[in-house]
Amino acid sequence: MTIIVTGSVAYDYLMFFPGRFREHILPEQIHHISLSFLVESMRKQRGGCAPNIAYSLALLGERPTVMATVGQDFGEYRAWLDDAGVDTSAIVEIEGEFTSSFFVNTDQENNQIASFYMGAMGWADRLSFHDLDQGDIELAIISPNAPAAMVKYVRECRELGIPYIYDPSQQIIWLSGEELREGAQGARVLIVNDYEFGMVRNKTELSEEELLALPEATIITRGEEGSTIYADGEVVQVPVIPPEPMVEPTGVGDAYRAGIIKGILHNLPWRTTGRIAALAATYVLEQHGTQNHRYTLAEFTARYRAIFGDTPGLGELATNLPSNHKGAEL
Ligand SMILES: Nc1ncnc2c1ncn2[C@@H]1O[C@H](COP(=O)(O)OP(=O)(O)OP(=O)(O)O)[C@@H](O)[C@H]1O
Ligand SMILES: [Mg+2]
Repeated sequence: MTIIVTGSVAYDYLMFFPGRFREHILPEQIHHISLSFLVESMRKQRGGCAPNIAYSLALLGERPTVMATVGQDFGEYRAWLDDAGVDTSAIVEIEGEFTSSFFVNTDQENNQIASFYMGAMGWADRLSFHDLDQGDIELAIISPNAPAAMVKYVRECRELGIPYIYDPSQQIIWLSGEELREGAQGARVLIVNDYEFGMVRNKTELSEEELLALPEATIITRGEEGSTIYADGEVVQVPVIPPEPMVEPTGVGDAYRAGIIKGILHNLPWRTTGRIAALAATYVLEQHGTQNHRYTLAEFTARYRAIFGDTPGLGELATNLPSNHKGAEL
C-alpha cells in the first residue's frame, strides 16, 4: 500500500549579515533602494513540506511516495531522498525551471529580508491522482503547495475515495472559505495549529462545533503546549516531549504530521498516534534544519517506551501490517 505525500518542495538559502540592515537603509533615499549586503555565511538546506514529512516517515519505517513538481536543480535532492528511503518516482522535473527557493538574509539583530520564488511548484496542478495507481493508495496528505494544486488534489481524493489528511497551514490565506470547507469536509484528518484553526474558522464562517464536525478527526497543535486530537467523540490531549537539547524549531510541524500518518497507517489508538507524532517532532527540534535528524525505528520505540512506559505492540510498527489491523492499546 502507498502513502502519497503532496506539498511544497523547496531549497532554503540562509544567509547571515554580520551588521545591521537599518544602518544601510537611508530614509531620505527610500524611493531609490539599491543595497547589497556582503554576507558572512550561507547555508543551502533541503526543505519543503512534502520531503520533510516523507523524510521522517521513512525514518519511521514507511516508504512514502512524494508527488510534486521540481526544477532542473533537483538532482542531488532526489538522490538524498532516494537514499533516505523515499519513493521519488512521482516527482516531476519541469524543464527550464528552478525548484522553489526561499532566500533569507538575517542581520545581527535578527531582522530578516527574504524573497520566495515559487518556481516549479507553480506547475503542481498539472499533476493528478488519476495518473497514480489509485487502488494501491492507502492514505494521502495534502500539505501547503500552489493553491490551485491543493484545491485540485482535494477534489480528486474525494472523487476517487482516497482518504486524505488536509493540512492547509500557511496557504490558508490564499484559499477561499469555500475551498477550505471543501478540504475539511470528509477529510480523514484536518490538521492545523491553533492560530490556523482560528483563521479557518474566520474564513469558513463556521463555529468551532461546525468545523470539528466536517472531518473525521481534527488535530490542533499548540507548539510547546502540546496538541489536541478531536476524534470519535473524544478529546485526546497529547503532551510534548522536551527536546534534549533544543536547537531549532524549523520543520517541527512536518515531523509531527509524519507521526500522525504512521499511527493512522497502523490503526493505533489516537493517544498513541499523538505521542508518536510528538516524539517525531522532538527529534527535529534537536537538530538544525528539517532533515538532519536520524534514528532507527528501534531507537524511536525505545525512547517512546522510556517516556510513556511499556508499550506492547510498538515493535510491530516495523512490519508492514495489513490496513485493517487493529493495533494494541499501547
Ligand atoms: N518547544 C517544543 N517542545 C516540544 N515539542 C514541541 C515544541 N514545539 C512544537 N512541539 C511539538 O510539535 C507539534 C507541532 O508544533 P506547532 O504547533 O508549533 O506546529 P506548527 O506551528 O505547525 O509548526 P511549524 O512552524 O513547523 O509550521 C506540537 O504539538 C508539539 O508536539
Ligand atoms: Mg505549520
